[in-house]
Amino acid sequence: MPKIKIDKMNLFDVYPINDITVVKAKGSYVWDDKGEQYLDLYGGHAVISIGHTHPHWVKRIEEQLEKIAFYSNSIRIPLQQQLAEKLGKISGKTGYQLFLCNSGAEANENALKLASFHNGRKRIVAFSKSFHGRTSLAVSVTDNKNYVAPVNETANVIFLPFNNEDALEECFQQNGNEISSVIIEGIQGVGGINIADESFLKKIRSLCDKYGAIYIADSVQCGYGRTGKFFSHDFAGVNADIYTMAKGMGNGFPVAGIIVAPHIKSKHFQLGTTFGGNHLACAAALAVLEIIEEEKLMGNAVMVGKYLRDQLTAIPEIGNVRGRGLMIGFDVPEELKDLKKNLLWEQKIFTGEAKPNVIRLLPSLALKKRDAEQFIESLKEEIEKLVSIPTTVN
Ligand SMILES: Cc1ncc(COP(=O)(O)O)c(C=O)c1O
Repeated sequence: MPKIKIDKMNLFDVYPINDITVVKAKGSYVWDDKGEQYLDLYGGHAVISIGHTHPHWVKRIEEQLEKIAFYSNSIRIPLQQQLAEKLGKISGKTGYQLFLCNSGAEANENALKLASFHNGRKRIVAFSKSFHGRTSLAVSVTDNKNYVAPVNETANVIFLPFNNEDALEECFQQNGNEISSVIIEGIQGVGGINIADESFLKKIRSLCDKYGAIYIADSVQCGYGRTGKFFSHDFAGVNADIYTMAKGMGNGFPVAGIIVAPHIKSKHFQLGTTFGGNHLACAAALAVLEIIEEEKLMGNAVMVGKYLRDQLTAIPEIGNVRGRGLMIGFDVPEELKDLKKNLLWEQKIFTGEAKPNVIRLLPSLALKKRDAEQFIESLKEEIEKLVSIPTTVN
């Protein structure tokens, strides 16, 4: 090992970050260490589902913390069963079976593995621009070479063009009996807010049925009510065999899971986890579902989401406004490339992005209409400033 002398431990630098230190948060707002207030339309990357520090969520976690935070999965944890029942009711997937873990990548990893245990096959179909996480198998079904280390490379994954039914049909005709699973986001998030066509999801369902493959619905970003349906894949009117969930599930408390259709049977020790489904995580996840139900947040996502999309569509300088509910993207032309940065620094509004030129909105499902209105006003103001900058002639 080369000798490099540094006198303190530093963080491993994995992301470019904004020079902002957030110290407080409430609803759709966060505050930095200088007392500056920001509107959060990024939701901490689609994680904040019911609003930052929702009082019911805080209370539930605090009360649970006083009782017991963690014990291993070797004992009964009734909160897990309560969570499963509540999730079954709200999602409409009664009869499915819940397995809890800690992150989106882990959820996908378990789903792909379970599919392979179930049908004894190795090959997986994934799609262009997909993102399914950073762990070994999850990253190997992710369509971004920069994230895939040599050790993650595998010939088991077949990448097909997103929403191309002919390519999918042909792939199954050629390899159908070897395909273990098909994994797809209902709306691609990292890929730039690309909606899976309803007919494409139906085609996946019918080909999986015909060839004995497992349909895995990655709902890590597009699920948990964000689109107005609990799972965005539900717009297609067909069920997946496994749904994977994370982000919005704990409103910032790390909790994730998969729900598994009744025809897939569990076998002891095939799946397992130390931290997954701990008492505290279940309390946080239950609080989230209780608030989604009580405050009718899926309806709010539809209503505020429609308002935002209508308003955005009417702004001529931006293009291709798309999405469902409160998962929205739009294209930003080259001359407005500083728009996201200016929204943050000039208007104090957090938004998300997708490379190369997409702004992504992933706010809390409790976003108020007046906050959406404020965003539209601020956006127009920043666009106007950018278009009025005279272009230099060389
Ligand atoms: C669709 C999708 N799947 C999986 C993941 C991975 O989730 P995590 O970062 O919790 O591992 C993400 C994260 O952005 C995602 O958007």
